Amino acid sequence: MNISLKVWRQRNKSADGEFKTYKVEEVSPDMSFLEMLDMLNELLVKRGEDPIAFDHDCREGICGTCSMVINGRPHGPIKGVTTCQLHMRSFSNGDTIVVEPFRARSFPIVKDLVVDRSSFERIMIAGGYVSVRTGNAPDANAIPINKHDADEAFNAAACIGCGACVASCKNSSAMLFVGAKISQYALLPQGQVEAKERVLNMVAAMDAEGFGNCSNTGACEATCPKGINLTHIARLNRQYTTALLS
Ligand code: SF4
Ligand code: FES
Repeated sequence: MNISLKVWRQRNKSADGEFKTYKVEEVSPDMSFLEMLDMLNELLVKRGEDPIAFDHDCREGICGTCSMVINGRPHGPIKGVTTCQLHMRSFSNGDTIVVEPFRARSFPIVKDLVVDRSSFERIMIAGGYVSVRTGNAPDANAIPINKHDADEAFNAAACIGCGACVASCKNSSAMLFVGAKISQYALLPQGQVEAKERVLNMVAAMDAEGFGNCSNTGACEATCPKGINLTHIARLNRQYTTALLS
């Protein structure tokens, strides 16, 4: 396949950015999107040009670092697939593909496609943990938890903290991310000890980081590569209201 890439290039946080177009030839349909970028970067290095900066780590859909917007959609065109697991066979020979960083005030651009998502880390520090001793794996089985709650907590724990929900939201809301993190603990007995402080502190941290409010458009759910759904935002709202009134 031969493709054209229109890529956002920006030297640093304060520099002006612009799209630059690159031709990439002999792309294998079986390459991942990131492998195609690796190939382009090798070409750029050989030509003495600055390679495109982009985030990646696991390349298997579990770390959440491969943040970029591909043809207007965070993580690209395939529902439930992270950028690192997107393959070039999802595009056609001759396509022009537009690649941009996540755009949100709380995710400032570091360079090219790399954004600073440490705002998510600060929200987690505010309450995304349990302080009780949970023992080893066999100890967890000693506490009976009904199947529905166990499944819901597990689904919430699938959130990889990628930030696509924020990037797809017109308000740059982090409610789906925070909802998933709150649900993960709210549904399990181990999460009850600091439940009230957790939801109040995580919402306060979210607001302090400048994320917008949820206006129920559902773009986050539609874009989330891990299928985190809006019921977690509803649970977050219930937990928050209950904590405020208690
Ligand atoms: S809720 Fe989904 S889109 Fe948002 S950070 Fe978690 S995995 Fe990414
Ligand atoms: S590089 Fe880890 S999820 Fe994509």
